[in-house]
Amino acid sequence: MSEEKNTFMLDGVAVEFNEGDTIMDAALRAGAYIPHLCHNPEFTPHGSCRVCVVGVNGRQVSACTQPAATGLDVDNGSGDITDERRRLLQMLFVEGNHVCPGCEKSGACQLQAVAYYTGMLSPHFTHFFPKRAVDASHPDTAIDYNRCILCELCVRASRDVDHKSVFSISGRGIGTHLTINAPGGKLGDSTFAATDKAAQVCPVGAILPKHRGYDQPIGERLYDKQPISIVGDVATRKPGNGGDSHGG
Ligand code: SF4
Ligand code: FES
Repeated sequence: MSEEKNTFMLDGVAVEFNEGDTIMDAALRAGAYIPHLCHNPEFTPHGSCRVCVVGVNGRQVSACTQPAATGLDVDNGSGDITDERRRLLQMLFVEGNHVCPGCEKSGACQLQAVAYYTGMLSPHFTHFFPKRAVDASHPDTAIDYNRCILCELCVRASRDVDHKSVFSISGRGIGTHLTINAPGGKLGDSTFAATDKAAQVCPVGAILPKHRGYDQPIGERLYDKQPISIVGDVATRKPGNGGDSHGG
């Protein structure tokens, strides 16, 4: 007799899970897309962007932190869930300065791609227009703080993989911001290197490699031909789908 598998229902389809899985872990393994920004399976879940919100037995939870369990009935695709995700994305767009048409990451940006996926057509809320700087002090990598969505993936990658802790988060509320752990607060004065894992994980165009701007023509960028639900992101995309992620 075959061993019975642990399963939960995701939009009416049974998804198998292993002990210790979150809903996101099991869904990604099964090839089901749950929108996410601060989640990357290589790192401990952070649960900050909330874009992975799903309905579980009538409650809204973050799929990247919610443990999978037998009998869960997970809503990943209803109008209510999509509306909530779109609202969260609109807040992210107005809290920073995201000028997609001029951004080097356009066409390969997870924030932009998830916004398309949810059918976001306008920012809806009033723009905050925060004053934020660009740090071009490093020879190989630039940081545009205008685009940072505070996902902390660079913080986790630099601390847990590169063992450098170049990045950290400071401040509170609307004043929360990414900081560089260097005497002058500049990337060029830190131990950061373009080969670091932290240089590869930014889901938006905040950490960008220099010397290769706009090197992929429109039509050949990661999300030009297929949506993020098919292509996946830098960490989860399936081989053969989409072009180069542009590395940062
Ligand atoms: Fe996330 Fe990029 Fe901001 Fe780092 S710079 S916190 S990876 S959005
Ligand atoms: Fe789950 Fe960000 S992806 S909270």
